[in-house]
Order: sequence, then C-alpha cells, then structure tokens
Amino acid sequence: MNKEQCCTTACESSLDQNYWDIQYKTKTTGWDLGQIAPPIQNFINSLENKNSRILIPGCGNTYEAEYLLEKGFTNVTVIDIAPTLVAVLQKKFANNPNINIILGDFFDHKGKYDLIIEQTFFCALPPFLRQKYVWKMHQLLAEEGILAGLLFNRTFEVSPPFGGSQKEYELLFKDAFSFLKLEIAKNSATPRANSELFFKFKKNSTVIVQLYNFGRSFSNDYAETISGKFTALGNVLNVSMNSNFSEILIVSKTEIPEELLEQIIS
Ligand SMILES: C[S@@+](CC[C@H](N)C(=O)[O-])C[C@H]1O[C@@H](n2cnc3c(N)ncnc32)[C@H](O)[C@@H]1O
Repeated sequence: MNKEQCCTTACESSLDQNYWDIQYKTKTTGWDLGQIAPPIQNFINSLENKNSRILIPGCGNTYEAEYLLEKGFTNVTVIDIAPTLVAVLQKKFANNPNINIILGDFFDHKGKYDLIIEQTFFCALPPFLRQKYVWKMHQLLAEEGILAGLLFNRTFEVSPPFGGSQKEYELLFKDAFSFLKLEIAKNSATPRANSELFFKFKKNSTVIVQLYNFGRSFSNDYAETISGKFTALGNVLNVSMNSNFSEILIVSKTEIPEELLEQIIS
C-alpha cells in the first residue's frame, strides 16, 4: 500500500508544465475530442447572459471558448499551463476582444467568475490536488457562481486521466457547493458514452472553505485521526483529506482560526 502510494506520488509529481508542453509539442493529445463535447454544447445553449464572466481552466484547444464566442459571449477567459498550446491560441483568437488567453497555472490564477466550465481538466490533475481544486473553484466563483461540465465516472488503467465516481465527487464537493445536477451525461461523444457525468454545482456562499497544508505527509492512520478531530469541531460541515495526506479541505459555517488548526495537528 505504502509502496503504491510512493509510486503514485512520484508519477503524479511529474505532471508539470514541461509534461503538458511536451504533449502539445509531440501532438500526443489523445484527450482532444476535436469538437465541443455535446453535453457542454447543450449547456451553453441554455445560458442567457452573454456578458457572464466565464473561465475555462486547462483549456487545451478550447472548442468550448470558440463556441461561446460564436454564440456572442463577451467575457471569456481561458487558462492553460502549456506555452506551446497557448501560443497557438493567441494566434487563433488574435484581435478578438471577447477572449482573454492566459498562460499560467490555474492554482495561481486570480479573478471572479460567474461560470467556470470543466472539461477534462480535473481528471488531468494528480489526485492529491482534488481538495485544492475544490477550494480554488470556490475562491474563483462569484456569489451564486456556477461550476459545470463533465467528470469521468470510471477508472483508468493508465493515468492521466485519473478517474473517479459519483460517490467520490459527492463527498469531495459536499457543502462547498449545492448540487444542481450530477448525472450520467446523455449525449456524450461516442468514446465517452455512459462513462461521464454532467454536473452543475452552485457555489455555497454561506460557508467558509479552507485548505490547510500540513507541510508534510501523515501516515494513513494518523490522517484518519486528524480528519476525525477536524470533523468534531463545532460548525464544521465537511472535511476531506487529500490522497497523500498532506492537505485537508474544511468546509464550515465560520472560519476556523489557523492557530486552532495547528493546535489540533500538534
Ligand atoms: C487533458 S488536457 C484537456 C484539455 C482540454 N480541456 C480538452 O478537453 O481538450 C488537460 C489540460 O490541462 C492543462 N493543465 C494541466 N495542469 C494545469 C494547471 N495546473 N493549470 C493550468 N492548466 C493545466 C494541460 O496543459 C492540458 O492542456
């Protein structure tokens, strides 16, 4: 078990800018559908406010942004960590004032958005970043903001992509978001038929979402004890430890002072 974890951690840690840039340089982009995913297209068709602030993280060739622009949306931001890809996008959308193309790490990005679209970004991240993803999404969304898109409902033998299940997503996003929709996508692109979930989550603005980094990894047993202690705190709604036991996501009704978090760990 420990051995497996070490291996996973080592493999995951190489999913950096260099890794992704090489995929674009060598055109090893098996995830690219070559078109907008039909469930996301349907979702975009249902949107009314053309001036919504929209973000697409880990955007890749971003057929979603292309479609949004075609439909008259005026405030689209896309971000990706791969310089080779971003240079292509900057050329493709040159002089279009309705799109902002950013080369950067999603986790360093600052801004406020009404809608964030998820399309094979979550599954590309090493799983130990999943709690950080929830925290960051909550930070980037405006009040009533929506996070929507597709998540895999299956596992993979070779990763990335890293799979997941409906149950796992429910536990991960619980209380930080209200689940407006989470169901098997009905009109997925053929290779992904019946293996992905369409979701629409609304930011829960009445809670505080904190991500606490321990500065080291705990053992499995100790991590369980710590999770239990956090869960027992008054006003805590949900607690979720990351896969290498180095970070914890805490959703609560009131902010938990850092000193108290440190006290629990010590
Ligand atoms: C599996 S690809 C999906 C691309 C696109 N969404 C699609 O469906 O075609 C994952 C993308 O996320 C980008 N990426 C990975 N980690 C990132 C990070 N921390 N910040 C921003 N982009 C990242 C990669 O460069 C890559 O373009």
